[in-house]
Amino acid sequence: MSKISNVLSLKQAQDEKNLEKLNSEVSKLKHERKKFCEQAAKTLLRALDAKDNYTFGHSMRVAYYSLALGREYGLNEEELYELELSALFHDIGKIGVPDSVLLKPSRLEEDEFLKMKKHPSLSYEILQDFDVFQEVAVYAKHHHERFDGRGYPDNLKGEDIPLFSRIILIADTFDAMTSTRPYRKGLSYDIAFSELLEFSGSQFDPGLVQVFTKAMSKEVLKNEETFHLSIIDGNFAKNAA
Ligand SMILES: [Fe+2]
Repeated sequence: MSKISNVLSLKQAQDEKNLEKLNSEVSKLKHERKKFCEQAAKTLLRALDAKDNYTFGHSMRVAYYSLALGREYGLNEEELYELELSALFHDIGKIGVPDSVLLKPSRLEEDEFLKMKKHPSLSYEILQDFDVFQEVAVYAKHHHERFDGRGYPDNLKGEDIPLFSRIILIADTFDAMTSTRPYRKGLSYDIAFSELLEFSGSQFDPGLVQVFTKAMSKEVLKNEETFHLSIIDGNFAKNAA
């Protein structure tokens, strides 16, 4: 009897050892997969940087603003990581927009605007074949949908628009308003907040606008000039002047 129980406890110890080994192999593989994805992300973002340095910097700031909103909203670490990736990639489709349109310093003509409006769908097309980016591709595709259903490309409405796309739209618009371009000076945060409030419910998810203004007020109090992200290395300037 004791011989049997000895054999059993030996087997149990062996099983536990095997399980431990398996668990550490799984976490090693997960870590390698994450590293591999980040390398792919960096490569794509370098291509965007080579095409248009402004859009690259804009994408970094949109990730920072999206994360501030996401944190205040109560997203967990895994969700925040996915949100960061989605925000970094939201405008990757601009690689496919002709320079004459993308870099035009003045107002776009109607046909030019139509070309520009293709960029969310182009972001989707660029990202969708890489299975790890499939969800992110969908969030990028819908970052110009409006809460009232009058956005593009699919006229999605309200909460039919993915949460991350609704978050990115707010961050995207906020950066577009507050960053200084060669042809106009950026708006102050306060004016940009009141613009977001004005279009709350029509363009933007009203609940998320509230969360964003609260999150950004806290960010302002921190009084830091730079921010960093978890996927892309480097310190980036908060002030886009
Ligand atoms: Fe966009």
